[in-house]
Amino acid sequence: MTDFFTQLTAILEKEALRRPGIMAEPETLRELAADHAPRKNSAAAEAAVPAAPEFRKEQVDDRRSGGISGQLRSDLRPGTLEHLVETVRHCRGCPLCETRLNAVPGEGDPHARLMFIGEGPGADEDRQGRPFVGAAGQLLDKMITAMQFKREEVYIANIVKCRPPRNRAPMPEEAAACIGYLEHQIRMIRPEVIVLLGATAAHFLLKREEGIMKLRGRWLEYDGIPVMPTFHPAFLLRQESAKRDSWEDLKLVMRKLGKEPPAPRRAAQ
Ligand code: URA
Repeated sequence: MTDFFTQLTAILEKEALRRPGIMAEPETLRELAADHAPRKNSAAAEAAVPAAPEFRKEQVDDRRSGGISGQLRSDLRPGTLEHLVETVRHCRGCPLCETRLNAVPGEGDPHARLMFIGEGPGADEDRQGRPFVGAAGQLLDKMITAMQFKREEVYIANIVKCRPPRNRAPMPEEAAACIGYLEHQIRMIRPEVIVLLGATAAHFLLKREEGIMKLRGRWLEYDGIPVMPTFHPAFLLRQESAKRDSWEDLKLVMRKLGKEPPAPRRAAQ
């Protein structure tokens, strides 16, 4: 018999079809269930489970005034991308810093022509401190290769730089505390095109409320830079049939960057 979490995931996948961008992995649901399981000795158990960190406004203000922890490398020049990356690694600007293993500032060519922006790190990214290195990342790598780029030639970043617990979407306060880093990254890199992966990225960067079904496949703009929203690779892993549309979006990006997409293969006669 199919296990309970697989069944629950199937139900949620259906939900995600109706409202793309809502995602839930079996692993996430297991964590969720463990969190909500009745506790035998509730006083002891409560002591063992750290309370969810409260969001405090002064933490954001603290970051704005340089609220970082630990020693920053002194050889990095302020205003450079390396300095920003190092600052993010030490950031304590919102409560996500309490639960992260590693901040995930972003990586790639500082002169990239093409930039990808996702939602926020997952468990694999949190462990490694690098963006898109899990299953969704492997698919993103394939998308980048299909677009005739190497991963090292593009820049990959996220709306929030620390993992939201249980892979939930970032809260508006968390995105607000973090978005300044992304804005600086975009300003420093000045890519020719930005690809937004999923509705959450579009929501927090462009303040768009529409779902990804409505947004994808048409050019938008951020600070004079053409922006193409498309499906998040994690969604594509669950919804294979959406890959075709996603490829159409990516072909538009290729053409904008002067690359000719491969001709479609003709069916055998
Ligand atoms: N999903 C994201 O949105 N970003 C990552 O870095 C990994 C998975």
